Amino acid sequence: MIENSMSIFASLSIAAAGIALLCTTVPARSDTSPPASRSPAKSAERPWDVPDLDKLPDDDWESTVLRGRDLVAKTASLIGPENPDPARRFAGNNLNCQNCHLEAGTKKFGLPFIGVYADFPNYRARSGAVGTIEDRIQGCMTRSMNGKPLPAGGPEMTAIVAYMKFLSTGRPVGSAMTGRGAGRMPELRRAANPVHGKAIYAQTCAACHGDHGQGRRAGPPGDGQGYAIPPLWGTDSFNDGAGMTRLINAANFIHNNMPNGTNWEQPALSVDDSWDVAAFIDSQPRPQKSGLDHDFPKRIEKPVDAPYGPYADKFDPAQHKLGPFQPIRDAIKELTSAQAGTQSSK
Ligand code: HEC
Ligand code: HEC
Repeated sequence: MIENSMSIFASLSIAAAGIALLCTTVPARSDTSPPASRSPAKSAERPWDVPDLDKLPDDDWESTVLRGRDLVAKTASLIGPENPDPARRFAGNNLNCQNCHLEAGTKKFGLPFIGVYADFPNYRARSGAVGTIEDRIQGCMTRSMNGKPLPAGGPEMTAIVAYMKFLSTGRPVGSAMTGRGAGRMPELRRAANPVHGKAIYAQTCAACHGDHGQGRRAGPPGDGQGYAIPPLWGTDSFNDGAGMTRLINAANFIHNNMPNGTNWEQPALSVDDSWDVAAFIDSQPRPQKSGLDHDFPKRIEKPVDAPYGPYADKFDPAQHKLGPFQPIRDAIKELTSAQAGTQSSK
């Protein structure tokens, strides 16, 4: 009964948000859309076309790419706790990559894999070194998936990289690309408010993700199906070193993609509500990763919203979690130029 009325309330408020958006928000939204995304004239950018799997000839390359897509879509059953063979279990939770990398990594501003292959190797601030696309995938295996690395050079890694290469067809190194990541809505001048976020969660998210963020399984545990709706916190969620625990990632992801089915062109939640609900989710308990203090060995390169220290600046850890972030950015900028000054005077 309670759950019922909750879900009616949820759909009402989603519908209400949609109507409010149609009436008022769209014309005013030019400042909230990610830079350059609305003006095709500005760049000779390729449109957001997803390479067609059906056009691949029936051969080993095709079967490897398809396998990669399956690993992204059905991670829990293929390399997670639901694989009957313990030797093939690498993910520690029952999430699928595509719970975050939406539509198997093809959705604009849904953390897509389109074009990603052309970006690697690149310098990774988190490790303080240049890393490969394989290293990046292992990052999500050990954090977002709360598991262990895939065997280096093994069939799973090869298939996932092949799928990413396929999704980057026609996107050369350095080509312009809008739609990667989760987007960039304006930041708040205040700290995000998890208490208000909790109310938003109850109204708009709990009907799907559960009152305790536990998600909803497709069937009983062990059926190889994993979740129909993924958990957002608790023991079967991403750990505290994952990218989704950074408020800027989470808030933009939610704004442009949640409730599931929303897209960046018609967000359902306001900018403020998106920050606040993200702050609520990111302040809930989740698995802990050891050794996080070794991340970002060059402290000055640590993202302003990294939710764990140590930090190069003197801001309160709470401000790194909840913002506002601009004062931190300004302080880091000063520290950086002070450092550059010291180096050049040597
Ligand atoms: C809980 C959400 C979540 C899950 C599940 C997840 N990831 Fe990620 N992943 C992220 C976030 C957030 C980022 C961006 C992090 C950042 O840049 O700070 C990311 C980034 C990446 C990138 C780099 C993308 C880019 O644009 O440079 C790759 C590659 C990647 N993930 C692969 C995977 C694979 C493969 C899996 C499954 C084995 C996976 N991820 C599971 C959240 C997730
Ligand atoms: C209609 C059901 C529904 C509603 C309502 C909904 N979600 Fe989701 N959410 C999903 C589904 C399904 C996925 C996984 C998408 C996929 O696998 O394709 C997801 C994925 C996510 C993820 C990334 C995966 C993870 O486990 O962390 C986050 C974060 C998230 N939702 C947050 C929210 C928030 C916050 C709200 C409320 C503003 C919300 N969702 C409302 C269904 C929903």
